[in-house]
Amino acid sequence: PVVPVILSGGSGSRLWPVSRSSYPKQFWPLVSRLTMVQETALRSHGPGFSAPVVVCNNEHRFIMAEQLREVGITAPRIVLEPMGRNSAPAIAVAALLAAETDPDAVLWVMAADAALLKPENVPPVLDLAVRVARSGRIVTFGMVPTKAETGYGYIEKGAELPGYDGAYAVAKFVEKPDAVRAASMFESGRFLWNSGMFVFTARTMLQEMEKFEPEILTAVREAVKARQTDFDFERLDAAAFARSPDISIDYAVAERTDLMTVIPADFGWFDVGSWDALWELSPKDGQGNATIGDVIVNNSTNSYIRTDGVLTAVAGVHDLLVVVNEDAVLVAHRDHAQDVKAIVTELKQAG
Ligand code: GDD
Ligand code: MG
Repeated sequence: PVVPVILSGGSGSRLWPVSRSSYPKQFWPLVSRLTMVQETALRSHGPGFSAPVVVCNNEHRFIMAEQLREVGITAPRIVLEPMGRNSAPAIAVAALLAAETDPDAVLWVMAADAALLKPENVPPVLDLAVRVARSGRIVTFGMVPTKAETGYGYIEKGAELPGYDGAYAVAKFVEKPDAVRAASMFESGRFLWNSGMFVFTARTMLQEMEKFEPEILTAVREAVKARQTDFDFERLDAAAFARSPDISIDYAVAERTDLMTVIPADFGWFDVGSWDALWELSPKDGQGNATIGDVIVNNSTNSYIRTDGVLTAVAGVHDLLVVVNEDAVLVAHRDHAQDVKAIVTELKQAG
């Protein structure tokens, strides 16, 4: 069976005021009636999958356990990080744990903050990915880019792998290019976006980490070995984990390895990173407005209006994001959806 690995690390600050570090975006029902953690877990639940390995921050352990239980996932392995060290160490944790029972286990790493609007397209593509992974390669799914976004990884497709129709060697992997490079890659039409999902065997990933980031493995091996079982949770050793470099899997492995493989796929993939992204993927009225909760919209266009309680009305507004929460209100132009992060930084500094 495939081992699902769910990474739940980020705090989702661009989705303030709904997403907070104590209760981040992946635990909110933003896209559907379920939370993104629940959607992600259900996507990899059932025949063909073993219990998921969930790697998350210690602070979120009860929310995580409760949300998984709610959707019938009763025996997850929830591994607790004492602090965030980014995705490469988190993936190393999952690979080391899986390797304890089977070094050739195939892992499917998923981010807890992506929405797939066409999940029915996943199974056949995943089957191919698993076969390619068993041949000792690392697979990602390539999403057709829709703009010159700088926040993603870009993948240039190389030659098709003999014997694996639809899977291609990665000619180049460029993580988070600057604006100029993003524009030229986007315009060339030759690049795909990295979905942030990866399929590989524990053995292959550990071998590549040993090659490129041995310090991660030294620290994480120790943290896993000295882990403590705490009721249903597995708690990594804090002192050892703290010694791991802080680096994402994209820089640590994807940009450097020769084993990278891309399978172009249409999953209706959305990175749920900002309110503007949520506006994009939400159903809208004839004027392009997406409304959630008790909302009245008058003479307005292309706006995202969300309230968790208080009746919210807008008139004559265009391209606005309005998010009303119990204790805070956000009003922003859609072109400034990314600036919400700076607001949160300011709030934190103000204490
Ligand atoms: N457990 C754990 N611990 N998970 C983490 C940590 C950590 O310290 N840091 C990040 N993650 C998780 C996040 O919760 C998310 O699910 C996933 O790893 C990716 O991390 P992000 O911080 O969201 O990465 P990104 O969005 O900047 O970039 C990645 O995703 C893009 C697609 O959304 C890259 O893989 C890009 O190449 C990719 O295009
Ligand atoms: Mg992300």
